[in-house]
Amino acid sequence: MKKKILGISASFRRNGNSAQMLQAFLKGAEAAGAQTETIYLADCNMHYCTGCWHCKETGSCVFNDDIHMIAEKIMAADAIVLASPIYFYAISGQLKTMIDRMDAYYQKIENKDFYELFACADSDQACVDTAVLEIRGFISCLKNCHEMGIVRGTDACEVSDIQKGAHLNEAYLMGTSAGRRSDVQ
Ligand SMILES: Cc1cc2nc3c(=O)[nH]c(=O)nc-3n(C[C@H](O)[C@H](O)[C@H](O)COP(=O)(O)O)c2cc1C
Repeated sequence: MKKKILGISASFRRNGNSAQMLQAFLKGAEAAGAQTETIYLADCNMHYCTGCWHCKETGSCVFNDDIHMIAEKIMAADAIVLASPIYFYAISGQLKTMIDRMDAYYQKIENKDFYELFACADSDQACVDTAVLEIRGFISCLKNCHEMGIVRGTDACEVSDIQKGAHLNEAYLMGTSAGRRSDVQ
């Protein structure tokens, strides 16, 4: 059975630096035999989590929007690739909104590999650290889910700056390794 890999692009720059890393990753995964799909959060209708905790009482969210489709795809995937720009040393607002809205689903998300692709203008890799911790916090709430790889796409401010360095290749190679992992029969 082919490994199912879901890419989630969390930038409004549809062909921006993090999206290009995601495309490279998924190309690598496909070359290794995986089946891939991409969700662009910019295309999705997602209300903020209001903390009403309706989900705690009922297991479902009061908002009827695209988060349910996103959660279904996450639960059906073997691996999730989160691609986000760094905004003020953190993940993008769209990605944070998606994660917060997972409150209704996170107990049902299990046995997933997570990969993270970050694009930032800074040349210091440490500028991604907060974003890594944010995603690590989310993963830590999930059952048997693991952080498998991170690409810190530094020196990428303008669209396509990412093409100047080695990050696209790094993402591609990580994708090939993710696509051929042998833990799915
Ligand atoms: C609101 C905003 C905040 C940003 N904050 C940072 C930052 O803290 N550190 C950094 O290195 N780059 C920062 N940047 C630059 C972006 O991370 C960079 O342009 C990145 O390539 C965007 O990724 P994308 O093309 O995938 O959207 C910021 C950009 C914006 C628009």
